[in-house]
Amino acid sequence: MRAVYYESHGDPDVLQLGDLPVPKPAPNQVLVQIAAAGVNPIDRRLRDGELQEYITRTFPVVPGWDLAGRIVEVGNEVTDWHVGDEVLGLAFTWSIQHGSYAEYTPIDASALAAKPTNLSFTEAAALPLVSLTAWQSLTEFGELQRGQTAFIQAGAGGLGSVAIPMAKHLGATVYTTARQDNAEYLHGRGADHIIDYKSVDYETVIREREPEGVDLVLESLLGEGVAEAAIRLAKTGGVVVYMNNEPPEIPDIAERQIKTEFLHHRADGQMLAELVALYRDGLLPLPQIEVLPLEAAVDAHRRSESKRTRGKLVLVVQDLD
Ligand SMILES: NC(=O)c1ccc[n+]([C@@H]2O[C@H](COP(=O)([O-])OP(=O)(O)OC[C@H]3O[C@@H](n4cnc5c(N)ncnc54)[C@H](OP(=O)(O)O)[C@@H]3O)[C@@H](O)[C@H]2O)c1
Repeated sequence: MRAVYYESHGDPDVLQLGDLPVPKPAPNQVLVQIAAAGVNPIDRRLRDGELQEYITRTFPVVPGWDLAGRIVEVGNEVTDWHVGDEVLGLAFTWSIQHGSYAEYTPIDASALAAKPTNLSFTEAAALPLVSLTAWQSLTEFGELQRGQTAFIQAGAGGLGSVAIPMAKHLGATVYTTARQDNAEYLHGRGADHIIDYKSVDYETVIREREPEGVDLVLESLLGEGVAEAAIRLAKTGGVVVYMNNEPPEIPDIAERQIKTEFLHHRADGQMLAELVALYRDGLLPLPQIEVLPLEAAVDAHRRSESKRTRGKLVLVVQDLD
């Protein structure tokens, strides 16, 4: 099968396009013929050699966890999916080898949702990882309620693009940060307060409008003082969810009863199906999607490394329509 893979860690140029054997699904998995693969920052971070203490590699590694396509084989323990079903899913694993930048990928049956007919494969492939992460952060951990306030850092990225409309759907007032170029896009996502972090200090701006702090902070940036600022911005008894780091060790967390953790997404097909229904019915808008061919995986990783992409990048693997 045609696949993008790497045989050693390194910069985007370690990605090669070539032929690999079609993988076999385990008994609890299905084999999906991939139409499109979503690109996430974790794909390039793993390619670069990060997180080896948590996530093992078997080379050659095909990157990619987000996928949309059609089931072509079903493991013998799988009862709820059939050959021919059109699906999307999050092929997350702690042991990477067979990712979605390829014509075929095995994936746990429990990590799949049915693809609605009014979503294209490309649209579907953009959704799983960011949607599950945002929903698990806002609802399961954050318990965000109607009338509350949320600060979603880096609104124009893949995660922010879905988290903002989700927070609005839940009835919250949303603050976010972005460069001026992305302000119109984020108005369209429903953000109430878009802070141009290049020209003003976001902490000062939010503090002026919310002297007691916000109910929830979704912090997806790393950087000097960023983690501490997130805690300061949460109101007493509020929530801070980190996407990239453990909470800082500061007394303020216990003193003001801030609920906080480093949240790692969970592949959950049932939750994904509930979220897909919201996209299908127009209750959540799709993120902006830029489509590239599979051959452009190197370029996609370079673009992701620039941290300037808006919405999602998706690789088209093959035409299944
Ligand atoms: N823990 C988890 O399970 C999990 C899940 C998903 C993502 N993540 C992590 O969350 C982070 C965001 O993911 P993503 O998919 O949204 O990444 P992404 O799509 O690559 O984010 C790119 C966006 O970041 C924005 N940005 C860059 N620097 C910024 C700054 N200083 N202030 C505000 N915005 C800034 C850019 O907007 P501007 O051009 O407007 O600056 C750009 O649109 C990544 O580090 C990712 O690894 C973690």
